[in-house]
Parts: sequence; C-alpha cells; structure tokens
Amino acid sequence: MTIGIVIVAAGRGERAGSSQDGPKQYRRIGGKPVIAHTLERFLTWPRSGPIVVVIHPDDETLFAEATGRLPGADRLVTAFGGETRQRSVHEGLRTLSASEATHVMIHDAARPFVDHGILDRVAQALDEGQEGVLPAIPVTDTLKRGGSDGLVYETVPRSGLYAAQTPQSFLLSAIRVAHEKAAALRREDFTDDASIAEWAGLPVTLVEGSVDNVKLTVKRDIDMADEKLSSRALPDVRTGNGYDVHQLEPGDGVTLCGVFIPHDFKLSGHSDADVAMHALTDALLATCGAGDIGDHFPPSDMQWRGAASRIFLDHAARIVRERGGAIMNADISLIAEAPKIAPHRQKMRETLAEVLGIAVDRCSVKATTNEKMGFVGRREGIAAIATATVVYRGDAA
Ligand code: CTP
Ligand code: MG
Repeated sequence: MTIGIVIVAAGRGERAGSSQDGPKQYRRIGGKPVIAHTLERFLTWPRSGPIVVVIHPDDETLFAEATGRLPGADRLVTAFGGETRQRSVHEGLRTLSASEATHVMIHDAARPFVDHGILDRVAQALDEGQEGVLPAIPVTDTLKRGGSDGLVYETVPRSGLYAAQTPQSFLLSAIRVAHEKAAALRREDFTDDASIAEWAGLPVTLVEGSVDNVKLTVKRDIDMADEKLSSRALPDVRTGNGYDVHQLEPGDGVTLCGVFIPHDFKLSGHSDADVAMHALTDALLATCGAGDIGDHFPPSDMQWRGAASRIFLDHAARIVRERGGAIMNADISLIAEAPKIAPHRQKMRETLAEVLGIAVDRCSVKATTNEKMGFVGRREGIAAIATATVVYRGDAA
C-alpha cells in the first residue's frame, strides 16, 4: 500500500477577507504561512507517499515563497485547481494517478493543525481494508433548526451526528471513479469527498478526528490560530555585549552617552570618541549578527571625523528594527577615574532613550573607577562595557 496525499489549496478564501489580505492558505500564523504548517505535518509523517499540492494558477509565486525553505519541498508535485473544491480535488486525483499511490488522503490546506495521530488512525482503517475513511468529531453543541423568520422550529437530536474533517481517505481508483462519475453527470454541489463517495455507493468509515483540526474559514480563525502558535513559541530573546576604550589626551572635555562633560582631557579617536555609545552600538549589532561598528563606519573614512556618535547608535537601532527586533533594554558601565559621571547620569539615560526610541527606565548608565589600577587608573583612557537585550519577532531571520 502506498498512501498518496492530495492537498487542496486553490481556493480564494473569500470568507476570510482574501480581497484585502490575499488567499488564507498563504497568510502567516506563528511566523509561517498556513500551508507551510500543513505541508510540514505530511512531509514529516513517515507513511506519506507522493504529495500533490493543488494550487491556483495565480499563486505560483506565493506557493514558491511559502514552501522554498521547507525541508523535503522537492518532493512536492503541483497541479492547478478549478472553480470549486470538487474540481480541485479531481485535478489532484488525476495527477496522483500517474504515481505509484494505491490510496489517497485528501486534505484541506486550510487545516494546518492536523496531527500524526489522526493520520495514523486514518491509515490504520485503510490498512484494515476500508475503502473510504472519514475523520470526524461528535457534535457537542445543541442543534436547532431555525426558520427565515428568525424563530426556532425544532431541536435536532445530536446523537449520531458528526462534524466532518479532513484528510478524508480512499482507495485511489474508487474515489477517482466516483469523482469522474459526478463530473460526467455535472453534479458540482459536493462540499467534501465523503459525500461524493456516499453518493457513489462507496462505504465510508468514521474514525476519530481532533478538536484541534479546525478549518481556518473566517479572518478570526486565522487570528486565533496565530495567537495560539505565537503563545506556544519560545520568545526569541537575544543579548549582545560591546566593549570600547579610547585614550585620553589634554583637552577641554569628554562626550559620554551623548553628553558633553567639561574636563581637563578629551578622548582621542575618530568621531567624537564617545566610548559608551560605541560599546552600545556593538552590543545592538551583536543581537542580530550584524558585525561591529568598524564594519559600518570604517575609522579610515574621513566623513566620520568628529561625528556625533548618536549617528552610529541610531544606525544600529534601525538595523535591529528592520530585522524584526524590539529593543528591551540597554545597560552601560563606564570605567573612568574622572570626570564624575553621577551628576550627568539622568541626562545620559534620557539621551539613550531618545536615540533608541524606548522608555528611560529601560536605559541604564553606571560608572566605576578602576581603583587607580591599570591604564584607566593612570587616567590614560576611559573604557565602557554595554549590554543590550532585543526580542525578535517569530519570523525574524
Ligand atoms: N479549495 C480549492 N479549490 C477551490 C476551492 C477551495 O482547492 N476552488 C480548497 C481551499 O484552498 C481550502 C479547502 O479547499 O484549502 C477548503 O475550502 P474553503 O475553506 O471553502 O476555502 P476557500 O474556498 O478558499 O474559502 P471561501 O469559500 O471562503 O472562498
Ligand atoms: Mg470555499
């Protein structure tokens, strides 16, 4: 037995607001297109045979983008769908019939939460010789029949009633014949394959589906699926550190964290030699592996001579945001014998907050002397250490 898979993905998703946001199967949930989640479940199921994905002719680029990075994507064969789900399935069955598949699982691309448990239960029924298998769940709501006048006419007993799911699975030759018969008789009104099988007299057996195996139909379904996956995902929290040191030489003051402090020395170096902002620039770049300050602003480049270092910090913050990052905090330790930092700390924090576009209480500046030891202790230079924390979106590179 070889179980081929047909995934139907040629619908327009009108009820989910496709005119605005594009077809629902390509919308992102938990950072990935819906169809990528669905295909992943089948690509990783050990019993999957050939996989045919039925797409809309307008969606070739969307499909290539959505599946390009999926492990095993080279196994996928595509076919073009038709006006109705029934026609799309029919196309998929035709394409699959050219393969070695003996059985078929027909699944909606819009059901990304199908799991291997369901697939195993369906496959077991096929193993036992069933020609048609339908995963379903018992209806739990009380059912009412209402009239066009808005009144309730009766309560429909729900015992024995099931909500049909996919993958509905069949002996390939049997369901293909049923579809061909329906097409020949111009019966276009079937909304799933089990109803075509029933109509054609093919026995269909129920197996247990899953309450999670919902079909994303309206926009709210997609938002809820996104919330569910995003709350499960580990937050992408990254920390970067940076270190910088500049020599002191006779002068009239130093610029630290963008604040000018009058002093008997100045810091030497390209730009305004603001060690604190340089260290923090490196820390931010480190959170997304974007190199260091020298890569972006080479010291040999004359245009940065005397430049305000906030330009560098602002640039790093922009790179972080472009890559999907939100800066959570920035912390700087200055190591200097003099000048005194404390009187300027608040202004420094406010400057960092302004450049980074975050609240002041997320910006910290601390200072320590080096207890007269080493080059800092001898007042030969000032050093700074910085740490930044950035949370990246789930789909960040
Ligand atoms: N489908 C298909 N070809 C069609 C219609 C639907 O392949 N002509 C697919 C859809 O892509 C979806 C599944 O069948 O994966 C279930 O259909 P449905 O939920 O109705 O999706 P849409 O038809 O896209 O949505 P709508 O009816 O709201 O337009
Ligand atoms: Mg539809």
